[in-house]
Amino acid sequence: MSADAEPELELVRVRVPAKINLALRVGPRSEDGYHPLVNVFQAVSLFDDVTAETAPGGEVGLQLVGEQPGVPADEDNLAVRAVRLLAAEHGDPGLGVRLTLRKTIPVAGGMAGGSADAAGALLACSVLWDLDVQPDQLTALAARLGADVPFALLGGTAIGTGRGDVLAPVLSRGTFHWVLGLSAQGLSTPRVFARFDELSTPAEEPLEVPDALMEALRTGRAEALAGVVGNDLQAAALDLRPDLADVLERGRRLGALAALVSGSGPTCAFLCADESAAIDVSTKLGREPAVHAVRRVHGPVEGARLIS
Ligand code: C5P
Repeated sequence: MSADAEPELELVRVRVPAKINLALRVGPRSEDGYHPLVNVFQAVSLFDDVTAETAPGGEVGLQLVGEQPGVPADEDNLAVRAVRLLAAEHGDPGLGVRLTLRKTIPVAGGMAGGSADAAGALLACSVLWDLDVQPDQLTALAARLGADVPFALLGGTAIGTGRGDVLAPVLSRGTFHWVLGLSAQGLSTPRVFARFDELSTPAEEPLEVPDALMEALRTGRAEALAGVVGNDLQAAALDLRPDLADVLERGRRLGALAALVSGSGPTCAFLCADESAAIDVSTKLGREPAVHAVRRVHGPVEGARLIS
């Protein structure tokens, strides 16, 4: 190493946000088993931290810390699949890493926690291994891992089409305040999509996001946004988990401007007028026996980023 060369990194830490869906429009299942989606994502201030440390050649180790029931700690973990894919496509299969996932995003909660971990692992290892990989190449790998992974890299507010993975940033002003009602048990995303198929005969018409939603984001007005958020998977999630209807109703009564299931659920998201309204709703909702835990978050926040 020359005198002024950068020392090699031995540890890289990345913070990755959860997402909620402000709009989720779902079309009929395609032949590949996926549904065409139009999806407006917002990244919110609930994070998983992914740490990548150098490890001997080819070894990919994984340690889980925090909220993790049912998360695989082996090769099935999406973060491990992400680093294997990154090494194969842009590095060398001999590259090793020890990953630690510090989880606070609810598992199987409809907030893309597993996708966040995969996005974090991609970014962390691209830096740790000093790979020559461009952001759009990372995004392409992310899309191969799962429909929500590219958004975890991007963050902010964005509209996703295709499987939800073809992203365009959306102009959003100000900060929106949310309360999240977490469930003790997760919901399987494939199961919710399957119930969606059973319950609905979606029209072949093009999926669209209401102009009013884009306008509400542009102006940053929570009251306007509340009138136009929506989730086509909500009926399927409520059919599988009827108790969630009461949770949504309770949040509305407590003063939330809007209440909806996040993605495939079961997390319920409550849009509040401002921070003090969110504090009030979260305190009262936390006393509800049907609600396992509450989190108060804001959005949009940035996507996966390096932290010291
Ligand atoms: O892409 P990801 O692995 O996160 O998707 C999980 C599951 O959700 C898929 O296996 C599929 O059953 C369902 N899905 C879908 N249509 C989409 C995205 C996901 O049916 N656009």
